[in-house]
Amino acid sequence: MFEIRAYQPKDETAVLALWTRCQLVSADSNPLADIHRKLAVQPELFLVGTLDSVIVASGMAGYDGHRGYLYYLAVAPEHQRNGYGRAIVAHLQDILHERGCPKLNLFVSTDNVSACAFYERLGFTRNDMVSMGRHLYS
Ligand SMILES: CC(C)(COP(=O)(O)OP(=O)(O)OC[C@H]1O[C@@H](n2cnc3c(N)ncnc32)[C@H](O)[C@@H]1OP(=O)(O)O)[C@@H](O)C(=O)NCCC(=O)NCCS
Repeated sequence: MFEIRAYQPKDETAVLALWTRCQLVSADSNPLADIHRKLAVQPELFLVGTLDSVIVASGMAGYDGHRGYLYYLAVAPEHQRNGYGRAIVAHLQDILHERGCPKLNLFVSTDNVSACAFYERLGFTRNDMVSMGRHLYS
C-alpha cells in the first residue's frame, strides 16, 4: 500500500537516489544541502511516499506567509502513472490549506512536457510570468 509520511534523516540516501533517477539533480544543484536546509525550515512539509517501506516518491513544499511553493516532486519511473504524484501533491496541499496558504506555485521547465501535462491535469494553470532568481551566496 502506498503510504505518505514526513521525511526522516534515514531516508537521505534513498531520496537522493530517487531524485537522481527522476532527473531532478543538475550539475549546479546541491540536493544534499537542499535537504539539510529543509530540515531546518518547515521539515513537516518534506514528504516521502513508500511502498512496503521502500521510498518511491517525494515532495517538498514551503509556505512563506503569502504563497506556497512546491519542489522536488518525484515518483520512481517504474511507479509513475499510479496516482502517487497526485497523492503527494494533495497531501501537501492539505497541510498548506490548514495553515491558510491561499495559493500553491511551482517552477517547472518548459522542456519538461510530461510534468507540465501532469500539473495541468491536477488543475494548475500557467502563469504568464518570467521566473527570475539570483544566488545570495555561493
Ligand atoms: C511528474 C510526476 C511526479 C507525476 O507523478 P505520477 O505519479 O506519475 O502522476 P499520477 O499518476 O499521480 O498522475 C496524475 C494525473 O496526471 C496524469 N499524468 C501523469 N503524467 C502524465 C503525463 N506524462 N502526461 C499526461 N498526463 C499525465 C495522469 O494520467 C493522472 O491523470 P488522472 O488522475 O486524470 O488519471 C512523475 O512523472 C515524475 O516523477 N517525473 C519526473 C520528475 C519530475 O519531472 N518532477 C516534476 C519536477 S517540476
